[in-house]
Amino acid sequence: MSSRLDGISFGKIVQIRERLLKSQATGKKVFRFESGDPSFSVSEQVLQGITRAAQEGKTHYIPNDGIPELKKELKLKLETRNGIHLPSADSIFITNGAMHALYVLWHCLLEPGDEVIVPDPMWTEAVENIRLAEARPVPVILQHEDGYLYRPEAIEAKISTKTKAIFVNSPHNPTGAVLPRETLVGILKTAEKHDLHIVTDEAYEDIVYDAKHHSLAALAEQEGFDKKFQERIISIFSFSKSSAMSGLRVGYIVAREQLVRERISKLLRCTINGVNSIAQWAAIDALRTDRSHLDGMLKEYRTRREIMIQALTGIPGLDIFKPQGAFYLWCKIDPSLYHRLGVRDADALSSKLAEAGIGSAPGDSFGQHCEHAIRFAYSCGTAMVREGAKELSAVLRK
Ligand SMILES: Cc1ncc(COP(=O)(O)O)c(C=O)c1O
Repeated sequence: MSSRLDGISFGKIVQIRERLLKSQATGKKVFRFESGDPSFSVSEQVLQGITRAAQEGKTHYIPNDGIPELKKELKLKLETRNGIHLPSADSIFITNGAMHALYVLWHCLLEPGDEVIVPDPMWTEAVENIRLAEARPVPVILQHEDGYLYRPEAIEAKISTKTKAIFVNSPHNPTGAVLPRETLVGILKTAEKHDLHIVTDEAYEDIVYDAKHHSLAALAEQEGFDKKFQERIISIFSFSKSSAMSGLRVGYIVAREQLVRERISKLLRCTINGVNSIAQWAAIDALRTDRSHLDGMLKEYRTRREIMIQALTGIPGLDIFKPQGAFYLWCKIDPSLYHRLGVRDADALSSKLAEAGIGSAPGDSFGQHCEHAIRFAYSCGTAMVREGAKELSAVLRK
């Protein structure tokens, strides 16, 4: 039997979610702050697209790398919205969400024993997929006092002869930090200097509040980086957050390097042989949906962010970070808080909150150097955020 999977966790957040769902099934009120699933419906246009695709019989096998109609539309989106200019749509690969994109990419890029530099904290699955490819994630510890910036100097200090790639995620899950242009350009310079690949996960590209999101591949073009180096930047995007299509499972990889493209194609064939055809047609409708759908969601996210911040401000021992993007409130915990609430650590605090019907994700679900922290997602409905924030505040202020 293969032991490769034995080192991979079951995921603490999944376990907390299951606990809350069980409570909910017994009639208890629960507040779903543990996971980041947009509460919103897909746009009317996407709904119609799903029906139309089904009625038109778009239910057969489709091209392995994605339907040409979607890839063509994405090429245009990348040009106009991200500033990424591709020679052709052949550099775009449709995946079963950004999660599957990460699985595929790490398997295409890494040999056993290779190293990838990652931010710590980081959304677990990005890192677990590196381990699944038998490579080693090397953490760069992000500091609360430094606004959770992923600094080029700190990345450079971790580069070894085994380093293959730098992983970047902005807007960042779990902190909500958005990297400014100069930091991103610094990361590009570091990667170029050391001849490394960059894998940039931009799943939250559209969920930004007080900051501007820059696509690394676009910056490399604008700043005139060497063309060969530009080919080493691999971007990952998703429809899950931008279009609230998390259950439809559509993401995509943008990769230009010939060998990487060939490998992606082979792995897509052997893992999924094409993403659900109806979801791909719906994704075209998502791209054509009026911007007001996204603006409506952003307005609600801003409201929820304020509610959460207000509810949790001034709690002794809890230091909140105001997110500039994504939909998570990341709080640093001073051990005095555990003492006051009679819990051992953040895990025990998360468990105590789950007992009260409140979801959360303890810091150590996101890395090895962030155990004194906790994340609250505000992607569930605004009414739930309003009520849950009050309950949460009451428990934490006791
Ligand atoms: C940083 C990051 N990347 C990727 C994903 C996966 O998104 P998808 O639903 O497209 O698989 C998530 C999901 O929460 C995420 O937080």
